[in-house]
Amino acid sequence: MTPLIELRKVSKYFGPVVSLKDIDMKVYAGEVHCLLGDNGAGKSTLIKTLSGVHQPSEGQIYMEGQPVVFKSPRDALARGIATVYQDLAMLPLMSISRNFFLGREPQRKVGPFSIYDAAFAARVAREEMKKIGIDIRDPDQPVGTLSGGERQSVAIARAVYFGAKVLILDEPTSALGVKESAMVLKYIVQAKLRGLGVIFITHNVHHAWAVGDTFTVLNRGKSYGTFGKNQVTREQLLQMMAGGEELEALAVELDLIARKDPSTAAAEHQAAEELHKPN
Ligand SMILES: Nc1ncnc2c1ncn2[C@@H]1O[C@H](COP(=O)(O)OP(=O)(O)O)[C@@H](O)[C@H]1O
Ligand SMILES: [Mg+2]
Repeated sequence: MTPLIELRKVSKYFGPVVSLKDIDMKVYAGEVHCLLGDNGAGKSTLIKTLSGVHQPSEGQIYMEGQPVVFKSPRDALARGIATVYQDLAMLPLMSISRNFFLGREPQRKVGPFSIYDAAFAARVAREEMKKIGIDIRDPDQPVGTLSGGERQSVAIARAVYFGAKVLILDEPTSALGVKESAMVLKYIVQAKLRGLGVIFITHNVHHAWAVGDTFTVLNRGKSYGTFGKNQVTREQLLQMMAGGEELEALAVELDLIARKDPSTAAAEHQAAEELHKPN
């Protein structure tokens, strides 16, 4: 099976900062591929590279086996890569249906004029939300009246409706409570069942484990590799995210500090204080 999207040896540098180094990753249709990693691991940089915000410094992206270059987010979207950011680009005072069609407003003709087709927008928004299991009472209600989870769901439904093949979700559950997260996780599974390849970015291993088929772990811009659910445990994922070796090194260091003879420790403390004194 050809992956929907594939990265081969993708690196991204910002001047001297190495945000990504030699990343290989394959995402297939009908899977939830979780991208895990601590803050600063490179998750956002990776998805920005996939969604046309950044171009890779090195390496190549393939879509359905063909090399591709995304010059802009619009370019990536046109090829079926839809990205839902945590701080959603929605206008809280505008209606759900208006937000659903944001930037792609349906028109209808009235004599020589084209006007926004509000009735069509409302009907489609309601139908599409219903397909993924959300019953919106009134598509004309402002998006601002929806909960965070519902808003994420509008964004997911919108991506599915506009024919996304790859749906990228950047930390969609990190600002949500348990119930709201469960709702979003459910829609992630729905999107996968409709044949999309879903890239789910999170630093919550429990959320990833609940819906993920495959897991790629980033640590300081490098990949630990991709693992199927039967190849790895939740504990191992946690260990990799935290950077296992770093934790061990820290443990050794803490142990040394604890074992140091108290007078040495006091002298070191004093030296440190001296260093930080303002002159
Ligand atoms: N535009 C940028 N310019 C310089 N450094 C950046 C830029 N974007 C990200 N970085 C750096 O790349 C690293 C990875 O960041 P990021 O991809 O945001 O990580 P994550 O999303 O996993 O928290 C960080 O060290 C960050 O400071
Ligand atoms: Mg991030």
